[in-house]
Amino acid sequence: MTSPYGLEGRAAIVTGASRGIGLAVAEALVAAGAHVCVTARDAEDVARAAAELGGIGLAGSVADPAHLRALTGLALREFGRIDLVVNNAGTNEPYGPLMAVDPDRWRDAFAVNVEAPLRLVQHAWRAWMGEHGGAVVNVCTEGAGHVGPHVGAYGTSKAALLHLTRQLAGELAPAVRVNSVSPGLVRTDMARFVWEGAEEELSAGLPLGRLGTPEDIARAVVWLASDAAEWVTGADLLVDGGTRVRTAYASPGYAVHDRLRSQVPPHP
Ligand SMILES: NC(=O)c1ccc[n+]([C@@H]2O[C@H](COP(=O)([O-])OP(=O)(O)OC[C@H]3O[C@@H](n4cnc5c(N)ncnc54)[C@H](OP(=O)(O)O)[C@@H]3O)[C@@H](O)[C@H]2O)c1
Repeated sequence: MTSPYGLEGRAAIVTGASRGIGLAVAEALVAAGAHVCVTARDAEDVARAAAELGGIGLAGSVADPAHLRALTGLALREFGRIDLVVNNAGTNEPYGPLMAVDPDRWRDAFAVNVEAPLRLVQHAWRAWMGEHGGAVVNVCTEGAGHVGPHVGAYGTSKAALLHLTRQLAGELAPAVRVNSVSPGLVRTDMARFVWEGAEEELSAGLPLGRLGTPEDIARAVVWLASDAAEWVTGADLLVDGGTRVRTAYASPGYAVHDRLRSQVPPHP
């Protein structure tokens, strides 16, 4: 059966796709008919994910400009095209109040969350998309819309990614559509320090009654990447279980911020 999303034969690069949201996005793209090229830092995880997806992969950090150049070259060589880029790899570090943050580590957050998406889109544009068209989806965060405890570097860099999304949408139209998806709290490794041991409490504060799954986010990414969204660019699709509208639903407290105030993520 033909997928309603019109991705048959399209080629996609998905960053941070060895687990969590990125892996779910890559799986959903493959299910919709696309070929995928995945990346993450751990080489074994990348090889495993690429094999499971029937795609290709390259290990490296998106913070390394040479990795992004090599990734684009690999996808073009193997697939002959690059129709879709999903900038999903991200970091929530450095964690803590901004007055205590080392500015060099702050810069690292921007290298991963903002600079890498720009570099990858530049490569894809020059290699294929500028001439043939395509779509970009950036994975931002619901948290970029407000401030929160200890997440200043994350929030400001993701807010910059939101702005980058809109700026590129204007600059690259009509050939390339550029949109973002902003997830609420999703049950992945990155957010484990927030949800572990508190799922019931966190779910009770959400209008839709549960935490997000990687698949919730993947469905939104695939829709934006597909021809079903052909008249959508510069948009941010909030997929948050109602986090933003919770004050009309439950008590005024915000369990996610209570957790962020009290938990510190383990350093990798
Ligand atoms: N989970 C949430 O609640 C939530 C909420 C809002 C937004 N988001 C966003 O969703 C995206 C995915 O997060 P997730 O929750 O799915 O995290 P995750 O489960 O920890 O997965 C992160 C993925 O990115 C890879 N990665 C991390 N840093 C990388 C780097 N510098 N270069 C290349 N790959 C890298 C990881 O593999 P390696 O470690 O091997 O590199 C892994 O494949 C992030 O942009 C995050 O900000 C998540």
